[in-house]
Amino acid sequence: MRSTPRTADMTDGAMNTPLLAVRDLSVAFNTPDGTVNAVNEISFDLAAKDTLAIVGESGSGKTQLAFAILGLLARNGTASGSVRLEGEEILNLPERQLNRIRSERISMIFQDPMTSLNPYLRIGTQMAEVLQLHKGNTRSEAYDEAARMLDAVRISDAKSRLRMYPHEFSGGMRQRIMIAMSLLCRPKILIADEPTTALDVTVQAQIMDLLADIREDFGTAVVLITHDLGIVAGATERTMVMYGGRVMETGPTDKVFAAPSHPYTLGLLAAVPRLDVEQEALSTIPGEPPDLLNLPKGCPFSRRCPLVHEPCLERMPPLERFDTDRLRACYANRETVQP
Ligand SMILES: Nc1ncnc2c1ncn2[C@@H]1O[C@H](COP(=O)(O)OP(=O)(O)OP(=O)(O)O)[C@@H](O)[C@H]1O
Ligand SMILES: [Mg+2]
Repeated sequence: MRSTPRTADMTDGAMNTPLLAVRDLSVAFNTPDGTVNAVNEISFDLAAKDTLAIVGESGSGKTQLAFAILGLLARNGTASGSVRLEGEEILNLPERQLNRIRSERISMIFQDPMTSLNPYLRIGTQMAEVLQLHKGNTRSEAYDEAARMLDAVRISDAKSRLRMYPHEFSGGMRQRIMIAMSLLCRPKILIADEPTTALDVTVQAQIMDLLADIREDFGTAVVLITHDLGIVAGATERTMVMYGGRVMETGPTDKVFAAPSHPYTLGLLAAVPRLDVEQEALSTIPGEPPDLLNLPKGCPFSRRCPLVHEPCLERMPPLERFDTDRLRACYANRETVQP
């Protein structure tokens, strides 16, 4: 039986063919110790210019969800379900087709920026190569466009910066370059995996502002993957909270913040540093993140949940709609989910 009903997705406002429609997407890894179900029956829609945050602690399945969409899973992983890009099924397409999609239609900024920049090549060379390969630009056209793109990510003196190597830039600047690279082919969707994790708070804010500008300037839909609920507020319209490879709750970001409907979201919120309240120490959710090879029978969060009761130990709560635009997977009474 499906634990996620077919209707339990985020299709609000997307009456026509959505830009991206993810349905019941699951990822399983074959390991010597057994099957790891890293992502379980996840569904969501993305329209042009949409912004969606995917939030959860380390190991909740955020990156593997993105990798499954883009066909980037490790060899021992398999993806099932459906991913439609502008109506066309793209899940598990042959590598050649996926390669085109990744370069031209959905681009991803990876968690570790240095893995995607070649340290031995000048920035300009790397950017121009992409344009020559995918857009058929001449060398000089490609350099002009690369310079324009550095401009677009607010890197001044773009022409001379193109002659520099990755290590000559600060972390924040490198992240801007990554964003510029990912936009070269004008993708419709940008997936940014922890784009600000290694950066200090001020630079984090600048990168988030930049992502917002890009969405305006280029009309790109942005999927922001982060463990830090703190950077999501004001940065995305919708938020999807994941734990143990499952969706715990989804909804408009402001509502998820103002009135979390899941005890896990409440725990994540308590772990966000606040400037307006004096805090002795940051609270963390007690207990260990789940071991995917040894999950509890019911809700993956049940072992750490302050509101756990019997049904939670029996069966994963179904993702159910409330308040018209929100979904939650929790047996606890909504009124009892209080800080
Ligand atoms: N090749 C693999 N074989 C087995 N398990 C894997 C493999 N790749 C990932 N996993 C497991 O899948 C789970 C989800 O991983 P994922 O990378 O999606 O986490 P995440 O939410 O992105 O965490 P983080 O915030 O640390 O990046 C983890 O438990 C991880 O160990
Ligand atoms: Mg990750």
